[in-house]
Amino acid sequence: MGIYVKAPLVLKLFGEHAVVYGYRAIACAVDRYVHCRIESHSNDEILVDTNFGTFTLREIPKPESAGRLRYVVSVLKIVQEVYGVHPRRIRIVLRSDAQPSCGLGTSAGVVSSLMYGLLQYYNISVTVHELAELAYRAELMAQGRASRMDTYTSTLGGVTLINDPPNSVRKLDIYNIDAKFTVLLVRRRRTTRELVNEVYELKRKYPDIVENIFRAIDSIVGKALSYIISNRFDCIGELMYMNHFLLMILGVTNPLLDQTILKARQIGIPGAKVSGAGDGGAVLFLSEQLPEDFKRWLQESWRNDLITLETVTIDNHGIRREDRATD
Ligand code: MEV
Repeated sequence: MGIYVKAPLVLKLFGEHAVVYGYRAIACAVDRYVHCRIESHSNDEILVDTNFGTFTLREIPKPESAGRLRYVVSVLKIVQEVYGVHPRRIRIVLRSDAQPSCGLGTSAGVVSSLMYGLLQYYNISVTVHELAELAYRAELMAQGRASRMDTYTSTLGGVTLINDPPNSVRKLDIYNIDAKFTVLLVRRRRTTRELVNEVYELKRKYPDIVENIFRAIDSIVGKALSYIISNRFDCIGELMYMNHFLLMILGVTNPLLDQTILKARQIGIPGAKVSGAGDGGAVLFLSEQLPEDFKRWLQESWRNDLITLETVTIDNHGIRREDRATD
């Protein structure tokens, strides 16, 4: 029994990093999820059961000293601050379909699903936009710097446009979305937090150059938007390649990642780019299937760093409560 909620994971189609500085971006929710169950239990503590272990919280620590529970603790803090609820005597079970830090916005999935789960558990009703804003605040608290992209997209579902107008996120109204992607997940060397901070430092050092790269990324988003709103995902491939190499200039890719994208272009995959903070994580190919010899090349080149290679489709529903248990 208890409350069961699931929140979709997020692919960044265009505009990551620049979005943190107010430029536009496009993302989509996909059919991979973070599952969250909340149930009561008899002890006074909060039990947190995650993919990476089980923890007991006797009190809610500061997010910066909560280690891997930083995102969970930020949600608990926000619920406390905003609604005066003091969560205790609960067991939180969180399970992700994808590994943490794989570039699919797992932290956003965790904060969104846990926020919604707790609000449901305490019978607090909110609109979907209020929920997304609360989840964003929790991610920001845990991460220091973040855009609204991942938390809002996980909450709203579908394809979203971020920062148009500034600080907003809206779900695009696309009829019968016709898009399938292959996603390569590979291990990351640097975390989102580190990569976002490195771009911040680069911008401090070369403000004009980095602003110009952000402006170029924003132009790519504008062009991609004109295709995406008319469901012409088949036309966005060249723009994906351009966006990838601008991310390379920002220093958030790595040589094997760039080689993978160049190889994809060379063998005629219509579009490819890294998706998310970079340095590994998710690599997005605009193709439902990849040629067998390219798959072999990916396996041989990435070896132990390769996590999965899967086809994903867009989840148009966003976060939802369901009447069943996890595990
Ligand atoms: C991370 O998924 C995407 C970044 O743009 C950071 C953010 O938007 O918060 C790198």
